[in-house]
Amino acid sequence: LPGASVHMNEPAMFGLAFAPRLHDSHKGTFGDVAVVGGAHGMAGAPILAARAALLSGAGRVFVASVDHGPAFDSGQPELMFRDAASFNFAGSTIVAGPGMGDSATAIRLLGKALDGDNPLVLDADAINLIAASPDLQARLAARTAHTILTPHPLEAARLLGVTAGVVQGDRLEAAREIAARFDACVVLKGSGTVIAMADGEALINPTGNPGLASAGTGDVLAGLCGSLLAQGWPARDAALAAVWMHGEAADRLVAEGCGPIGLTASELPAAIRRVLNRMV
Ligand code: APR
Ligand code: MG
Repeated sequence: LPGASVHMNEPAMFGLAFAPRLHDSHKGTFGDVAVVGGAHGMAGAPILAARAALLSGAGRVFVASVDHGPAFDSGQPELMFRDAASFNFAGSTIVAGPGMGDSATAIRLLGKALDGDNPLVLDADAINLIAASPDLQARLAARTAHTILTPHPLEAARLLGVTAGVVQGDRLEAAREIAARFDACVVLKGSGTVIAMADGEALINPTGNPGLASAGTGDVLAGLCGSLLAQGWPARDAALAAVWMHGEAADRLVAEGCGPIGLTASELPAAIRRVLNRMV
């Protein structure tokens, strides 16, 4: 898309979406998020996403596990754990992928999420499963509800059928290509995260630092994207704000001496909450 715009991502690009909470709000006002993931051995990934959703303001947050996992997060007892196979997703924004694995159950649930009209964030294994299935790709392209994909470079490469080197060689082009192919908002992660829209608009994010290069930080970003969608934000603004605040939270943790070395994903949700409340 020659001539399509490229901007830096900054609060002016999404800031209008922040609104003060009305006094008569209730939890139903702020939406439900359901994180689908948590295959055996990867129970932590959806919990990180769910904590991020909760601390960024979603009304209710569920962890819908594809496998028998924990029934409770003692560090965040507000989270509600459900069996994904029997969970009723109606009305929820879905975050699919964190620790989801590639089981038959995971594939079936992903198909169900793609076919529904819930706002949807696709991360990690959900992206890998889509990359491996022309059928799921067609169902993704056919969606009409808000959809955000959050691939890291290797996941983006799988979607495009190229190497991670090709993606990294032209990150803007790769993100735009995925966005256009699936008519979705794409967050191509890594240093200088690119956010691309299906119409060719692309932005480069300036916040964040190598403290984020540790396991689970992407799960937090996916949960944050889902939380903003659940609170009624359109995909573009949700993705821009989530990426900016996620990086800004990490930058503040570094300024406080909590990184870059040893910064953990678990510390991000509370830091994101501080960033967010200053922006309202
Ligand atoms: N500068 C700025 N941001 C960075 C940097 C950096 N140097 N390095 C990483 N980040 C950010 C990315 O932009 C992204 O938001 O940290 C996050 C990392 O996300 P992922 O790559 O998805 O990492 P992770 O959370 O560990 O993923 C969990 O899911 O995607 C799979 O294979 C992945 O098993 C892993 C799991
Ligand atoms: Mg990841």
